[in-house]
Formats: sequence, C-alpha cells, structure tokens
Amino acid sequence: MVVLFCIEDEKLVDCIYTGLDAQCELIRVDNLSTIERDADVSCVIVDDTFDRTALITQLERITAGAEIPSIIISYNGDDQLAGWASQHPQCYYTTKQLLQSGEHNIDSLVDEVTTVSQKLQSQDAMAAIGAADEGIAILDGEGIYTYVNQAYASSYDQTQGTVIGTHWQSRYPTDEIQRFHTNILSAVDETGSWNGTVTALRDGGKTFPEALSITNLDDGGYVFISRDMSNRVQQQTELQVKDKAMNEANVGMVLTDPKQPDNPIVYANTGFSRMTGYATENVIGRNCRFLQGEKTDQKSVASIRDAVAAGEPIVTEIYNYRADGTPFWNRIQIDPIFGPDGSVTHFFGLQ
Ligand SMILES: Cc1cc2nc3c(=O)[nH]c(=O)nc-3n(C[C@H](O)[C@H](O)[C@H](O)COP(=O)(O)O)c2cc1C
Repeated sequence: MVVLFCIEDEKLVDCIYTGLDAQCELIRVDNLSTIERDADVSCVIVDDTFDRTALITQLERITAGAEIPSIIISYNGDDQLAGWASQHPQCYYTTKQLLQSGEHNIDSLVDEVTTVSQKLQSQDAMAAIGAADEGIAILDGEGIYTYVNQAYASSYDQTQGTVIGTHWQSRYPTDEIQRFHTNILSAVDETGSWNGTVTALRDGGKTFPEALSITNLDDGGYVFISRDMSNRVQQQTELQVKDKAMNEANVGMVLTDPKQPDNPIVYANTGFSRMTGYATENVIGRNCRFLQGEKTDQKSVASIRDAVAAGEPIVTEIYNYRADGTPFWNRIQIDPIFGPDGSVTHFFGLQ
C-alpha cells in the first residue's frame, strides 16, 4: 500500500511514521497539486496548514469518483473541513488532538478509508456492468450463476432472479452442452479463456445464436459475456436468400459501375452466364459491349450510349453474340441506380 502525505508539522510526521503499518510505503510530498487523480496511491494524508479552499479544491480533484481515499488532519479543528469530509465517504477527518490522545489511530483510519473507497469503486463497477449492453454473468466453480446483469437475463427471456442460482446447462440445448464439455470448457481450463459462437436456448425453448466469451476466474469460477446474434444472422440469411434468388432467376442481371473507367460490370448473375455462355469471372471488369458484333445495329448502340450518358432508363432490343459466336436478339432493360446525393452510383441491366 502506497500512502502519500503532505504534512508540515514534524510531530505529526513522526506520528504517521510510527503509527502506520510497516508494510505501507510512505512518500512525503510538499504539494498536493503534483498528485495525479489516477496515481497508483492507496491513500493521501494531509493537514490543514494549506488555505482551506485550495485544500478542498485539490482533494476534490484527486479523490473524485472515489479514486484516491484521503485523511485530513486538522490542527485546531475546522467545522467546515469536517463538514466537507462527512459528505465524501472516501475522505475521513480527524484532528491532531484526537491522534495524540490515542482516541484516533492513524493505521485503522487508513485501513477503514481504503476499504470504504474500494467498496465505492466496486459499486461503480457493478453499476456499469449492470447497465452494459452485453450480457454479463459470473458463475461459481460448480457452474451456478452467482450474478447476471439485466441484458444477460433478457437474452434468454428471463429475469435476473430466475437465472441466478441455476446452472449454465439450463441455457443450452443438449448437443451444445456436450460441446461445452468436450471443447469449450477444456479450452478455458487450458488457456484461461474461449471466444466463439454457440447455440443458446430461450425460456420458451427456442434456440438463438449467441456470441460468447468465457474467462476463468482465480477461484475456479467463470465470467460469461454474451451477445444475442439472432438479428445479425437473420440479416445475413436474408442476404444469402436474395443472392440465391438473383442467381437462380432465369434472366440475366448485371450491375455496372459508371464511376470506374468504361463503366465495367461489377456483378453478373448466373442467368447472365447461362444466356451468354461467358463465365462470371470472365465478364467482371468488362463493358457490356463485348456482346456486340458484326451485325449489331449501331443505332441501337447509340441509343443506349445516349441513355447511359444522360443517366436515364432505356428498354431496347439489340443483336448480340454468345461466347461460342452464335447470335441472339437480346431484349435489355437498363436502369440507373441513384445514391443519396442524387448521382448515379450504378446501372442495373436485365437481359
Ligand atoms: C447495365 C448495362 C447493361 C448493358 N447490357 C448490354 C447488353 O446486354 N448488350 C449490349 O450489347 N450492350 C449492353 N450495354 C450497353 C453497353 O455497355 C454500352 O453502354 C453501349 O455499347 C454504348 O456504349 P459504347 O458506344 O461506348 O459502346 C449495357 C449497358 C449497361 C449500363
């Protein structure tokens, strides 16, 4: 424990040296303003030889948020300082007389004020954990929940009261419990932690994907930090379904990017490959005019060119050629896609 003291009276300094536990590291400072609020200090002891307002300003600064507990020793008693200290649970007040008469003991004062401060800090930490978006749970060595925050309980459609005291196994389906035993918990025991995705169970028996991080505690227990991933997975699934629908559609679809030189294809579905005979990887990066050939009517080409240059939609028929050289009439519909600023970001072509 590091105790800083800022005291003028040499007798009081002696009292601190003799009164404090030999394990304390004592550091004398001349000025409180040099002490940082987040310094690695267990306690600060000051006397009131300073100007009272300056002393309070400095103590407010370094003890705010229960950061550093402090003890004020007054020479002659100061009601205002005593009043200020009584409103700050991490600051204790005593007098030179009380210390010298033995009524107050500096060692037990330091002990008490640091314990109070630690409790305050853990209360702050618990409040932050309680309000966190992530589900946070503390389990004992037997796997029983001893603490869960609101978010953790809600993700299982339960309340904190119904989860605390139960076993983690009641939140997972049988095959997942098996995986916890064979892979996950053994990895936690070996390396101290595990991160991954698991399938969890809501109260009504429905499963949902959960991102889970497990950390080992020194006492054999665990901390579980979890996040319900069902929305993200649902969005991904929707995207995959749309992608599949686009690929399976019996029409050709291309997206081109007019911001790139020569407006190249950036997406082509498999319907486009089926229709033209070109593999998708061989069309990406090329302008669609590679489908034109000897007998393609230049008037049709010009009308598309004008529509594309003006950022306007067009529907037309054009004489095109497949990869194997066979010609076909291609009925194309081209639509501009506009970005939020009103400029054309892509063209969508249906063939
Ligand atoms: C989205 C999109 C799809 C297109 N699809 C075809 C097509 O299937 N066949 C074709 O001959 N031209 C197609 N074009 C037209 C050509 O890419 C190009 O715009 C046209 O040949 C006129 O430009 P150019 O004079 O520079 O060749 C498409 C254009 C866009 C923007």
